[in-house]
Amino acid sequence: MVRETRISADTLIYPMFVQEGEHIREEIPSMPGQYRWSLDCVDELLQQIVDSGVKSVLLFGIPAQKDEIGSSAWQPDGIVQQAVRHIKSRFPQLYVITDVCMCEYTSHGHCGILCGHDVDNDKTLEVLAKTALSHVQAGADMVAPSDMMDGRVGRIRQVLDENGFVNTPIMAYSVKYASAFYGPFRDAAGSAPAFGDRKSYQMDPHNAREALLEAELDVQEGADILMVKPGMAYLDVLKSLKEQFRQPVALYSVSGEYAMIQAAAAAGYIDREAVICESAVCMYRAGADLLITYFAMELAKYIREGR
Ligand code: PBG
Ligand code: ZN
Repeated sequence: MVRETRISADTLIYPMFVQEGEHIREEIPSMPGQYRWSLDCVDELLQQIVDSGVKSVLLFGIPAQKDEIGSSAWQPDGIVQQAVRHIKSRFPQLYVITDVCMCEYTSHGHCGILCGHDVDNDKTLEVLAKTALSHVQAGADMVAPSDMMDGRVGRIRQVLDENGFVNTPIMAYSVKYASAFYGPFRDAAGSAPAFGDRKSYQMDPHNAREALLEAELDVQEGADILMVKPGMAYLDVLKSLKEQFRQPVALYSVSGEYAMIQAAAAAGYIDREAVICESAVCMYRAGADLLITYFAMELAKYIREGR
């Protein structure tokens, strides 16, 4: 009766991987239970999502071709653009959010256009905005830029507005740390940087006040939802964002967190369901309005069952 935190499946977002090609339903080795799907197979997953009561998905694309500038990211028939159209025609009740970043599309795996061995921030803004626009033109309900370049929210907002998409919201990965917890995702998307790391654009895990600066800039540029990522180890940052801003705050419990729970459970070291539920509850208690998690479908079931 006196519980302070209550969870609704309405606030869960399920991240999913779509891959160009056919007959692909491939389990991701470092993320057991999660798959890469080609569009001819993906209805099986989409039906499961709808049946689970989860209402929103976050789309990641794995293209057939990568190049230096990631040009397959903004093609009208690119994998994410095709996937959005597919989902909207087959399961229109799903709310479709697209991840906007270059690292899945560039041959070098960095999140933008390179100049030497560094990402050129301002050149990257143009391709990010083009990519976001192409997702929205395909029917995406919301875009989520995850690249962490300065000024990307403002540039994307401007390009969407100029093209008439004034009502399409932006969920900004505002506070994204340069984290080792993304390892399994990079296996899944083949997006590990070929050299160097992402520390020149993602945040230093030692810093918390800087998170407020990053969020402040995104708010000024027009972000509708602020995101903190990873989840479990960054709840202090989430809490301070929640206190400082009035925008909804999303938390992304990332691939490494998922992998740790799956591995420990498979070894018999933890009570899997209890740990999944407890960690989700703690993320909401810390202030998450929205939770992006690979456990979304299971959590929806546990919520329904009143666990
Ligand atoms: C792309 C992106 C990444 C994740 C979400 N978008 C990887 C990265 O920045 O290297 C990580 C998601 C996860 O680990 O579950 N920039
Ligand atoms: Zn990236």
